[in-house]
Amino acid sequence: MIPEPRLNIWEHSLSLRELCRRRALDLEPEMDCAAQGAELLAPLVRQMAFAPKLLDVGCGGGHFLHSLKRRGLEVDYYGLDSSPSLIETAQKAFAEQNLDPARLMLGDVSHLCDFSCHLAVMINVLSFNPDFRAPLERLAETGAKALLIRDNFGEGTIIRWETDGFLDPGYNHLKGYWNQWSRKEVGDFLRRRGYKTSFIEDARTKGGLELVVEKPYYWSWLLAEKKAVY
Ligand SMILES: C[S@@+](CC[C@H](N)C(=O)[O-])C[C@H]1O[C@@H](n2cnc3c(N)ncnc32)[C@H](O)[C@@H]1O
Repeated sequence: MIPEPRLNIWEHSLSLRELCRRRALDLEPEMDCAAQGAELLAPLVRQMAFAPKLLDVGCGGGHFLHSLKRRGLEVDYYGLDSSPSLIETAQKAFAEQNLDPARLMLGDVSHLCDFSCHLAVMINVLSFNPDFRAPLERLAETGAKALLIRDNFGEGTIIRWETDGFLDPGYNHLKGYWNQWSRKEVGDFLRRRGYKTSFIEDARTKGGLELVVEKPYYWSWLLAEKKAVY
């Protein structure tokens, strides 16, 4: 199910869409989190004897592909995003760069099926979902050997359903999720699905508070790797 676009906060910010377009065309400075994500993935990509199939969940403009390429990391890249206008923007930008726009798919990760991959990343996405379980269940079902997630992790899970407040005029009544997830709950969930998990400090925010549209965020990375040797 694609969230109803009229009610989807990601569909109602022209400034975000423009930023997404510019990032997709590699016209903006690299995001610190994209840089750290690519560095964290590098050893996993390099230990594979082939270009692994990678799913970038909530890919926005698909700019994470540039961060991988910049480091010489060859992957078979696929992006997934549930916002029609962001995927359309990203597809146009990919076509302009002679990249295959079909690699960018419209869809909600909670409904992902019949998709397998070697690696999956989810950078700044999970928090905006009603629960972590459906997205992570679907990602585990892809058979991915490793999942790399940057999100708002803390001692406990806190569900926040609040207005955004920074959208285009006329849309600031729209609400979204701005959740924090318990490290223990998410870690236990993935360990039960055969992953060993480690949390890694976010290089930019270093465990400190960051306000995201005035909501409290404590960013960190979760690397979940299949226990079996591959
Ligand atoms: C804050 S942006 C992050 C974009 C990019 N990953 C980055 O770090 O710049 C969150 C993105 O996740 C997408 N998103 C949120 N929930 C999603 C879901 N369940 N399935 C697919 N995309 C989702 C939104 O549409 C939006 O484009």
